[in-house]
Amino acid sequence: MLRRLHADQPESFAFTPANAAWAETQIAKYPEGRQASAIIPLLWRAQEQEGWLTRKAIETVADMLGMAYIRALEVATFYFMFQLQPVGSVAHVQVCGTTSCMIMGAEGLVKLCKNKIAAHAHELSADGRFSWEEVECLGACTNAPMVQIGKDYYEDLTEERFSEILDAFAAGEVPVPGPQNGRYAAEPKGGLTSLKDSASDRAQYNASVALAVELGDTIARIKGDEAPAAKPKAPARPAAKPAAKPAPAAAPAAASGEGVKPKMLKAPGKGGADDLKAIKGIGPGLEALLNEMGVFHFAQIAGWTGDEIAWVDQNLLRFKGRASRDNWVDQAKVLAEGGETEFSNRVAKGDVYD
Ligand code: FES
Repeated sequence: MLRRLHADQPESFAFTPANAAWAETQIAKYPEGRQASAIIPLLWRAQEQEGWLTRKAIETVADMLGMAYIRALEVATFYFMFQLQPVGSVAHVQVCGTTSCMIMGAEGLVKLCKNKIAAHAHELSADGRFSWEEVECLGACTNAPMVQIGKDYYEDLTEERFSEILDAFAAGEVPVPGPQNGRYAAEPKGGLTSLKDSASDRAQYNASVALAVELGDTIARIKGDEAPAAKPKAPARPAAKPAAKPAPAAAPAAASGEGVKPKMLKAPGKGGADDLKAIKGIGPGLEALLNEMGVFHFAQIAGWTGDEIAWVDQNLLRFKGRASRDNWVDQAKVLAEGGETEFSNRVAKGDVYD
């Protein structure tokens, strides 16, 4: 299938402040110089925010990760999970068309989409509220045929039930996801043949459906500042069940995240700054940041106390936590005394940086 950017593109894209902050936390997961590894989660969040991936969104993500636009475009156009054209403002329906679903009636579901939504996949309905596409196996084959709508699966569908579900979405409702033929989960259609006792132990919905109902984010766009989802209630269990183990004693309170600012220098000493990149975990970006803060020498880092490391960790912007994570102090102690580490050797040989 030819995947191209849509002909009509908006002028701009910006993450919401909350999504931008979330994106920074994703980028910080990767070592200096490897920020491009965060491209999939960032593109995905952009899509969750807008419904589809615009050229501006792809370019914004590329800028955030220091990537050439073509590299980000390669990713966005390669993976079918990225929608390159507008999707329905209410819902985008993904119909599984792979073997089990096809045998069990997926063609009828596709026909229904053509009649009720739009004649072709990836086309908006006349009112712009729905769109659809056929996708490969979504991993719910024992409950075929099925569709994904928003974040949820609707399984064991008939054309009639699928039609009702679409009508419900059009009316502003969110039907309960999961099996639609009375099955609890993926047990035999004729009922349980073993572990029959467990049937009396059931909560109202199976765990996946219970979580979907509890979260209720289904077809919602993600602005990033949504209240944290309530923890799903544990399914009701018979009183005879053994009591849960008491919770372990609370861990001792973590040391204050504030810490103590170490002594900084206005400029490097006479011999010039040390190559801080010889410390594993400090790349060119972090070295520049440290220099800006007033850190130029191994000896400075080697002398940091626990409180000072905590302060540094907190003030490394998107590299938060790297000083302790990569144990800079122990490495710096070796280097400050003129020693070498396996990593500093590789840096000296030119194996790490160009
Ligand atoms: S074949 Fe449809 S979910 Fe696997």
